Formats: sequence, structure tokens, C-alpha cells
Amino acid sequence: MSKNITKAVFPVAGLGTRSLPATKAVAKEMLPVVDKPLIQYAVEEAIAAGIETMIFVTGRNKNSIPDHFDKSYELEKELEKSGKTELLKMLRELLPPHVSCVFVRQAEALGLGHAVHCAKPVVGDEPFAVILPDDLIEDGSRGCMKQMVELFNKEQSSILGVERVDPKETHKYGIVEHTETAPKVGRLKSIVEKPKPEVAPSNIAVVGRYILTPAIFEKIETTGRGAGGEIQLTDAIAALMKDEQVLSYEFEGNRYDCGSKFGFLLANVEYGLLHKEIKDEFAAYLKQRVSRV
Ligand code: UTP
Repeated sequence: MSKNITKAVFPVAGLGTRSLPATKAVAKEMLPVVDKPLIQYAVEEAIAAGIETMIFVTGRNKNSIPDHFDKSYELEKELEKSGKTELLKMLRELLPPHVSCVFVRQAEALGLGHAVHCAKPVVGDEPFAVILPDDLIEDGSRGCMKQMVELFNKEQSSILGVERVDPKETHKYGIVEHTETAPKVGRLKSIVEKPKPEVAPSNIAVVGRYILTPAIFEKIETTGRGAGGEIQLTDAIAALMKDEQVLSYEFEGNRYDCGSKFGFLLANVEYGLLHKEIKDEFAAYLKQRVSRV
């Protein structure tokens, strides 16, 4: 019987050291791109993919994430009183009624693999999505996760979102080697976490989008500490690949690494140029500003 993807895991317990000092007291996932926090873009992408249960793996300093998705009675009352109906509607529609949120705690930031494993009691025995909110992906249409769910519905196997990166940057990513089975789709032959360019098997990098079968949990349980002393999801995927098909998928769209200062800045520029309220004013400003560089 074929299965559907109904749950998404958002590992948001990382320390965000690359974004300090902004992330000293504020969760990285709450940093706004134009006017929305990163976590909201991630949840909207999951909703667009038909996902109904959002599982957040949180840690210290992350209380603003549940607060963001909770109903804010005082704020709603104030907006109602002052007749700000548009804003009120926007707040009330943040999460559709059929969507539920579950918060799980990762007591210690032991790595992405460990964070995903913390969601096991909620995920159960089902395939599920993983979205890293700091990888913001804009595809101008249905969203990256929806693209991956469509592929999953045909293949019923684990899928990693991938992108070709500058060969000099392989040490920042999980890197895969694959055999192409269809346009944009490959069957994984190997995966390695953060290889130096001279030993990287390719420049095809795993980004923050995964669909995983529940067999991954058992693999994480037997994965020791890997690169950076962390329990790496990449190492568990390398073990999973030996038992079952794992696919790579070159998604359509542009990715912004908002965990880096430069990527975060790019995202703000690009989303600013798309934002219906400010795009014209911002584009005019940029044109004028660039002429002075
Ligand atoms: P990153 O590698 O971006 O780490 O984690 P980080 O701690 O968030 O940021 P830097 O590198 O210190 O700046 C990738 C994703 O995995 C989550 C992070 O929250 C991020 O979404 N993560 C990482 C966890 O949830 N727990 C961990 O133990 C590690």
C-alpha cells in the first residue's frame, strides 16, 4: 500500500553560531526575511506540500517559535479594537485549522541526525519530510517540498534535495555521488559529510530538504559521532542506502543559505524584490544605489 507524507520535522535546536551576535538571544529560525520569520516560510512550504503535522525539534532560546504559532489573544483584541482587519486576518490565517504543531525538545545539540531522531515518537512508522528552515528555497510556484512529495508519490523511497555547488565549497555540505535515473533524479551510490574539494566524489550537495523512510531512525541509533563530533544525518543515510533505494532530486528554484550572513542578506534582497508592498520602491532604490558603487 502506498504511503503519503503527512508529517514534517523542523530541526531548529542548533546554536546558530554563524549568525552571532543576532542569534545570542533570538532563535536563528525567527530571523525575518523582509517581514516573515524563516520558520514561517518553512511551514508554509510544508503546508503547500499537503503536510498536516508540523514537528519542531527545539532547544534552548527557542521559545519564540511556539509563541509565533500560538494564538495571540491580546494582539488580536487590540487589532480588532483598532479596526486593523487585514492584519487580524493575516494573523488568524497563519496556520490553517487542519494543521497541528508538536514541539519536541533536543536537550543537547548533538547534531542533525540526533535532532531528527528526537522526532521518532511523533513520526512513528511513516515516511516523513525534514525541512531545515535556514535553507530558504524560492521556486516561484508550488514549493520545493511539494516537488519532492510528487516524486515520493511515484517512488515511495527516501529522497534528498540536492543542488550543484561551487566545487571549492564541498566542505560545507553533504556531498553525493549518484547514477541518473531520470532528468533531475539520481540513485545514490555514496554520500559523505563535508569532504574537502580534493576528495569530494562530486559537487552535488545535499540541501535542507529530505523525505526519509522510518528505517532512518534505526540507522541513526547505530551512527556514532561523525564530522565535527556530531551525530550526522548524512552518516545514517549512508547506512540506509545499503538497505534501500535513496534518490537525489535536483529541485527547481533558488536556495538562500540564511544560516550564513551573506546568504541571509541575498534572501532579503531577492524577497524584497518580490514583495508586493515594497518591490517597486526597493527596486528603484537599488538601481539608484548601485549607480553609486
Ligand atoms: P547547522 O549546521 O546550520 O548548525 O544546522 P546551527 O547550529 O544551526 O548553526 P551554526 O552552524 O552554528 O551557525 C543545520 C540544521 O540542523 C539543526 C539546526 O537548527 C539547523 O536547522 N540542528 C543542528 C539541530 O536541530 N540540532 C543540532 O544538534 C544541530
